[in-house]
Amino acid sequence: MDEQVFGRMLEAASRARLNAHAPYSGFCVGASVLGGSGAVYAGCNVENASYPVSLCAERGALAAAVAAGEKTIQAVLIMGPGRCPPCGMCRQALAEFGPGMEVVMVSPDGTTETRYLSDLLPDAFHPGFLGK
Ligand code: THU
Repeated sequence: MDEQVFGRMLEAASRARLNAHAPYSGFCVGASVLGGSGAVYAGCNVENASYPVSLCAERGALAAAVAAGEKTIQAVLIMGPGRCPPCGMCRQALAEFGPGMEVVMVSPDGTTETRYLSDLLPDAFHPGFLGK
């Protein structure tokens, strides 16, 4: 990913992370996604007193992108209090919009790790199985 895009995604994710609602886990996460158009969308985790209702940052960012009209996602960037690989549910949710997308994990100390979603979620269930 080029430096300019990385900078925009990092800025969006770190700003959103400041708004994380994580009073139960204390684990604040910010994420951003790069839509097919080149626009960047952010999300944060939103926990709930009914724990299973909680939403991860990645799915928040994904929902914002889809609501804005994006049909594909090129990359996701995740920033947590430490290394924060996307959970299984988020991997599946993201794969719908870009099975080969880049997954960039950024730790607060600046350590960055880049993977591909197809490596993190091999043999994903995809729309083809439904004939779509
Ligand atoms: N969480 C995320 O938002 N993204 C991840 O990649 C992993 C976990 C959130 C869910 C929950 O609010 C908190 O982190 C602890 O699991």
